Formats: sequence, structure tokens, C-alpha cells
Amino acid sequence: MILAIDTSFDDTAAAIVDGIMIRSNVLSTELDVHLEYGGVVPRLARASHEQNIDRVIALALKRAHVDWDAIDAIAVTVGPGLAICLEVGIAVAKSYAKKYKKPLIPVNHMEGHLLSFLAKPYPKDPSLRMQCDRATIEHIYFPTLSVLLSGGHTQFVYAKTFGDYEIVGETQDDAMGEAFDKVGRMLGLGYPAAPLVEKMAKDGVSGRFVFPIPMRQIHDSNLSYSGLKTALLRTVEKQERLSRQDVADIASGFQYAAIKHMQEKLERALASSSGVKTLSAGGGVLKNLTVRKTLRKVAKQRGILFCVPPIGKLCADNAAMIGIAAQFSKLATVDYDSAIFDRKPTWRL
Ligand code: KG4
Ligand code: ZN
Repeated sequence: MILAIDTSFDDTAAAIVDGIMIRSNVLSTELDVHLEYGGVVPRLARASHEQNIDRVIALALKRAHVDWDAIDAIAVTVGPGLAICLEVGIAVAKSYAKKYKKPLIPVNHMEGHLLSFLAKPYPKDPSLRMQCDRATIEHIYFPTLSVLLSGGHTQFVYAKTFGDYEIVGETQDDAMGEAFDKVGRMLGLGYPAAPLVEKMAKDGVSGRFVFPIPMRQIHDSNLSYSGLKTALLRTVEKQERLSRQDVADIASGFQYAAIKHMQEKLERALASSSGVKTLSAGGGVLKNLTVRKTLRKVAKQRGILFCVPPIGKLCADNAAMIGIAAQFSKLATVDYDSAIFDRKPTWRL
């Protein structure tokens, strides 16, 4: 039973996981704090983490119906993320670990996203509860090709097994989620803009605005979203004013190109990876239904299983995924001052 903490970005998150089953998964988002700035302000995010973290942890324990005696270890995100935000979670995790004499486990946030597809709900019926059997999980799911689509990362990762990861393709500039956010802002959709781009795209006429699919001539699995973003900006600037229908049509053209680009590069990544049993995915962009549908289609065409967190909350930032990654980590220690707990804002998988 692990208590997991994530304060890597704007959400303050704590969860209790029992093996791969989620007992509780609490998130405190202070959207209105960032709303007026149109984006996350690190200083304000840190202040909300400091204000909310103890309450969020207490709530995670309460919702899981467990007390500190039942907790075997504490897991905390040490990177990648905003340095001054990571610090808050690490300091709090250390102080609880010392107070209650628990081992501490440092976790990479992206490994959390990568393993988030393993998360299962905690069933009331004890006979339905699953053992966290490493060998069986390895046998069923690995090697997996993992598609990580978040606000800061866009990566294809070949995961041979737990802890054995190779990045086979990634964005050279903007992340896919970041592109959705920036495009939403260009279209005047407010903050957070990405879900609104998806919503508008649903009402758009496809084919009215056609954007070039990036990097088609380059025969590798790397991505790029900055050119697409610039093409869209030029289109927006050319219009005298944008009607709601214009916005919807542009959003539709953008979403099509953004997803098609990811799909083409993913197909290359899959073609160059051997023995892949499953296509798995994680990250906030997976909340987008067209993205999920596209990935499902790619997996089906290759005859492999598509594994994605069952609900949007587990795709976006959360602490349950940090707890799940911690279950398979070999880094648990009571040496709280070890350098493995230093914050690592740019830690690569
Ligand atoms: O994984 P995540 O919650 O946080 C990071 O670790 O970055 O991902 C957040 C990203 C944001 O950039 C947001 O724009 C994107 O996920 N996102 C979406 C949608 N909902 C959230 N992107 C496209 N369509 C959506 N519906
Ligand atoms: Zn994330």
C-alpha cells in the first residue's frame, strides 16, 4: 500500500494505491488562480501546493479508509516538472516519511504516465481484487510501445519491461498538448484551451481549412508542432474577423493535421520496434476522443492490444499513476537525504 504525491505542475495530487488498484485519487486544481493569466504561473502554483498539500494527503487517506499504519511506503514525483513546485511535494513526502518511519520512493512523472494504463479500480468484492503480480503483467503487456502525450512531452517510448525504456521518437519543439493550448489561445478560446479546441472541432466543417502535415519528408519517428502552429497563426491573421463557424472550421483543420502527424510518426515507430505486444498511451492529450480513437485504430490494424487508462482523470496528471510506477521501482530507501530525492526538473525517462 503506497501513498503517492505529485506536485510537478499546477495540480496538487495525492493517492493511495494497493498494488495496481486505486483506493483513492485526490486532485486539487486551482484553475481560477491561473485563469486570469491565461496559463500556469509557477509562483502561484507553488503557493497553492503549499496551501493544499496536507489537506489533499489527509483526504486521500480518508477516502481510502486507511490510516498511516496501513501505508508501506511513500512515493513522490521528483521530476520532470517545475522546480519550485516539485520541491513542495518532495519536502512534504520527506517529513511524513520521517515522522511515520516509512521508506520513500522517487518517481519520474513520465514513467507514471507510461504505466498509468495498468491502473485498476478497487473493487468492493474482495474476490475480484487483483494481485500486483509483476511477472504476469510483464508477460501480458510487454514489450509495449507507449505513446506519451502531455503538456510538456510528446514521446514514443519502447518499453521492453519495467524500467527498460528507449525513446524512439519525440517532438523537436512544442509538445502536442502545448500546441492545442497555444492554438486555442490564438483562436480566443480562453484557458485551459485544449478541450475547447476539441469541442469546437466537432462543429467544424472538415476540409475548409487545410494545414500541411509536418515532417512528411523526414523518414524518422520524430515530431514537430511549431510549423503547424505558425501556419495556423498566418491563417488567423488573414481573416478580418473570426465568426464562431470560422473558429470551428480552423479548429477542425488543426486537429486533423495534429493527429494525422502523430499517427504517421507512430506508424513509423511501430514499424521499427520489434515484438511489440501492446500499444499503450498516457498523458492529458488522451482525454481527446479523436486521439484515443485514432490510436485504437492503429493498434487494431496491427493486431495488437490498445491499453489506455480507463478514464480521463487517469490520463491527465494524477498521483495514482505515481503510486503505480513506485510499485515496480527498485529505489525505495529510508536514506531520506539521498541525492535521488533532489528535484530533477528536466529528468528524462
Ligand atoms: O499530462 P497532463 O495532464 O499534464 C502534463 O504532464 O503536462 O497533460 C496536460 C495537457 C495540456 O497541455 C492540455 O492541453 C492537454 O493535456 N489536453 C488536451 C485535451 N485535454 C487536455 N489536448 C487535446 N485535447 C483535449 N481534449
Ligand atoms: Zn503529466
